[in-house]
Amino acid sequence: MREVIELYVNGVRHRLEVEPNRSLLSVLREDLDLTGAKYGCGEGQCGACTVLVAGRATRSCTTPVHLVAGRSILTIEGLARDGRLHPLQEAFLEVGALQCGYCTPGMIMSGVALLNANPDPSEAEIIRFMNGHICRCGTYGRIVRAIQRAAQKMKEARP
Ligand code: FES
Ligand code: FES
Repeated sequence: MREVIELYVNGVRHRLEVEPNRSLLSVLREDLDLTGAKYGCGEGQCGACTVLVAGRATRSCTTPVHLVAGRSILTIEGLARDGRLHPLQEAFLEVGALQCGYCTPGMIMSGVALLNANPDPSEAEIIRFMNGHICRCGTYGRIVRAIQRAAQKMKEARP
């Protein structure tokens, strides 16, 4: 049975008729053409599908879309501001924290959630927070460095 729901994605309101138990990931990718969040495991185990829901890192593959109706959703496509990449996106590029890039959108969205909650995380805090994200290319060390570098950039940018 389909229902009409409203989704707020990257600051844009969408009215969609969907089956309410479809995953947020499939609605983002197939109905809204936002393909940044990736399908990895489909079981909440790899982090490739991570987006922010009301600021919290959320596995969109296991989130029924009706649960996030009316809530603010941020995907990797909405992270840049005024044509400028987020400091964590810049840092990923600067330290080369990706190879194939499949895990990268999810890694970045979780990293942003971490930096919003804890602007100066220790290495141990970064590793603990990012635990559960899988990178098949094994770029873990550079991902940690990118988050540290973004934290430094954001600190320097604060007035
Ligand atoms: S695809 Fe969602 S956690 Fe793996
Ligand atoms: S860069 Fe390839 S899976 Fe992480």
